[in-house]
Amino acid sequence: MLLTVAVLPGDGIGPEVTAEAVRALEAVALAFGHKIELRLKEIGAASIRRWRSPLPEETLDACIQSDAVLLGSVGDPEFDDLPLEARPEAGLLKLRRELGAFANLRPVVAFPGLEASSPLKPARLSGTDIIIVRELLGGIYFGEPRGFETGGHAVEAVNTMRYGEREVERVAAIAFELARTRRSKVTSVDKANVLECSRLWRRTVAKIAGDYPDVALDHQYVDSCAAALISRPSTFDVILTENMFGDILSDEAGALVGSLGLLASGSIGARVGLYEPVHGSAPDIAGREIANPIGAVLSAALMLRHSFDLEIEAACIERSVCDALAAGCRTRDLVDDGRYLTTSRMGEIIADQILNSAREHGARAT
Ligand code: NAD
Ligand code: IPM
Ligand code: MN
Repeated sequence: MLLTVAVLPGDGIGPEVTAEAVRALEAVALAFGHKIELRLKEIGAASIRRWRSPLPEETLDACIQSDAVLLGSVGDPEFDDLPLEARPEAGLLKLRRELGAFANLRPVVAFPGLEASSPLKPARLSGTDIIIVRELLGGIYFGEPRGFETGGHAVEAVNTMRYGEREVERVAAIAFELARTRRSKVTSVDKANVLECSRLWRRTVAKIAGDYPDVALDHQYVDSCAAALISRPSTFDVILTENMFGDILSDEAGALVGSLGLLASGSIGARVGLYEPVHGSAPDIAGREIANPIGAVLSAALMLRHSFDLEIEAACIERSVCDALAAGCRTRDLVDDGRYLTTSRMGEIIADQILNSAREHGARAT
């Protein structure tokens, strides 16, 4: 199969971790007899410096003309004072919108062997296997009106949380479909005790649930969910929530399984999917070869599964990450002592494991 992928390494640790995701993809291609065509493009601060735009036409065109997009991360403190629409992050938000990627899947798995990296007691963490389905193109991120108002004595600012029924229906359907492939349980998270958007959310999700009588649905307020994620994470299966709640809960989920650097994401909905780790550009550790590449590598696995329907190849990457962790391989974010691997060494070990594992499972290793 020919896989055409736009690769946007972006800023901070983005290039370091994306290189390892590409290494994993190349190992899969070699082991399973696929051909990948990579189109390397700029986004974020890297692109502002060169093109004065966080998402130049050339990058967007390459993404639209590819089968999938692999992205590192965007964001640079150098541009923190720019207006919002000119910041690196604006490039990412525009890309998500242009691609129509409305459902952001964020798996959260407690890897065996990583118990010591988690702040939770092992018994509470054990068995945790969640997928957060975050609505990605609506809510307060995109609602109008927004902006600063300077009419009166003091400046005011306004943002609008807005949802339409159709936006909720389409992301809910994805969550229920996914639940069917797992433990058939959806927890819809909202703030329906306070917000109209959440009341619409709750009743629309309940309506869609009618099409999925085999899937159990429960509703939970977001504040209560934040606590439950820490006290009983293993009881969740699919968490379905709106844009900003999903942003916040997923970073919390990263911390509870051991590191934000472990979490992958895939944004789907239209023809071209966008795959990126959940974490940001981590300026505090950029350029030091100490970032964890696993979130990026697992994002490549999500790409194989959701954009190319290559389940065996996706599972091969996931198994290889598990094996590397089970063998004691750790980046700095996962250990308290000074014994850790560099970003690229971790990536090399995973890629080697992909080749070994593919051979053991009978793939056409060359
Ligand atoms: P961050 O996710 O970049 O970092 C938070 C903390 O987690 C930092 O201490 C960082 O060192 C650590 N961390 C993150 N990823 C790691 C990894 N792979 N390995 C080891 N440690 C890791 O969040 P932040 O510091 O709040 O934001 C930094 C910049 O990134 C901001 O400009 C923000 O807007 C942007 N951002 C971008 C994305 C994205 O591109 N999808 C996501 C989140 C934040
Ligand atoms: C994420 C990030 C982005 C978001 C930012 C960088 C726009 O935090 O992907 O989680 O808020 O969606
Ligand atoms: Mn985030």
